[in-house]
Amino acid sequence: MVLVNILALAIAYGWAVFASDTLDSSYSTGLSRLEKIESMYAWEGFVYDIESCRSTYEMTQDFNEMKARGARVVITFEFCGTGADVGYYDDVITAAGNAEISIIPLAWTLPIHAVGQSYGPNDTFLIKSVPRIEAVTQAVINNPKPVLAIAIGDEPLYDDDAGSPAALASYINQVRHNLSIAGLDIPLSISDLAYGWQSSGSITPVADAVDFFMVNNFPYFAFDATTGGNASSSWNDFIQDIEYFQSIANGRPILVTQTGWPTNEDEFAPNSPDIVASVPSSEGYWNLLDSFCQDYFKSMNIGWMWRSWEDDIDGWGVKYLNGSDKWHWNARTEC
Ligand SMILES: *[C@@H]1O[C@H](CO)[C@@H](O)[C@H](O)[C@H]1NC(C)=O
Ligand SMILES: *[C@@H]1O[C@H](CO)[C@@H](O)[C@H](O)[C@H]1NC(C)=O
Ligand SMILES: *[C@@H]1O[C@H](CO)[C@@H](O)[C@H](O)[C@H]1NC(C)=O
Ligand SMILES: *[C@@H]1O[C@H](CO)[C@@H](O)[C@H](O)[C@H]1NC(C)=O
Repeated sequence: MVLVNILALAIAYGWAVFASDTLDSSYSTGLSRLEKIESMYAWEGFVYDIESCRSTYEMTQDFNEMKARGARVVITFEFCGTGADVGYYDDVITAAGNAEISIIPLAWTLPIHAVGQSYGPNDTFLIKSVPRIEAVTQAVINNPKPVLAIAIGDEPLYDDDAGSPAALASYINQVRHNLSIAGLDIPLSISDLAYGWQSSGSITPVADAVDFFMVNNFPYFAFDATTGGNASSSWNDFIQDIEYFQSIANGRPILVTQTGWPTNEDEFAPNSPDIVASVPSSEGYWNLLDSFCQDYFKSMNIGWMWRSWEDDIDGWGVKYLNGSDKWHWNARTEC
């Protein structure tokens, strides 16, 4: 009995230590979350669309399957309901904890859904987006252990969600302040395109406010894009964007939180007349990234995450909505 109690105490104590922040970085002992991000390279995981409001049970199943196939990290995309429900982010984080996969909850700062909606008078940053940032922050405070980092917006500079980079930065700093009151030090960033940063004017406040750089990198949208697996277009475009981020990162870590190549052009139209959106083209891009595991991602210490898990982002999944693989995907997690 005594032994059992001591064991229980040890476990409880161990968990308390883990939960008490800087040293627990969702499932890697001895490293802070930021150090863990810095150490990551190669394929890391998936972008996961939460618009269909899957249950904790369903999300746990998805995360278990991703993990069984090598994924270590998931970033959310879109939002469930109004996106301002702390309870739903609690569910997402709980599911990640169940599967022991690291989660990057993303606060959706575009006031509307990305596609097929027009703006109404209430679709403003203050009315729609700020409550989502607050909800994500609260859910992370409720259950920080599975959380690797927080994304404040998907392409918030590209879409100018907050009205100015300075306004966006002030919300990032507010999240940091609230986390720190809760005793947490969780890396913050925005998930954006090189073009988003390049086209936004005075980006210094945002560049100063982020702890690392989450990169949306999509050679599919390039003007010279052809097939996903074409190294001379896709790969060149990919590394050009990374070089831009390296130029503003000042040594801070870089993680490609969103990259991919769709199997159709339905949700996001391309810019190149020679584009090929098909299963072989998508597979070719996946394998192209994997082929640079050693020569690029490892030497640069950069991880990449695929958009998306399933086709709820139409065409972008490694799986159809019925759950079957589009091709037999796998990628190295070490090299
Ligand atoms: C905007 O929000 C107000 C206050 O909640 C509500 O009364 C109004 O119906 C909303 N307008 C639209 C167009 O949704
Ligand atoms: C930070 O905490 C304050 C005080 O509880 C709250 O009013 C504010 O909405 C919070 N902001 C965020 C981004 O969580
Ligand atoms: C690969 O991309 C290059 C540069 O855009 C282009 O010239 C070439 O035709 C492409 N090859 C194929 C097979 O599409
Ligand atoms: C799933 O959907 C795809 C695309 O519609 C189809 O080709 C495939 O046969 C389906 N798989 C199953 C198991 O139904």
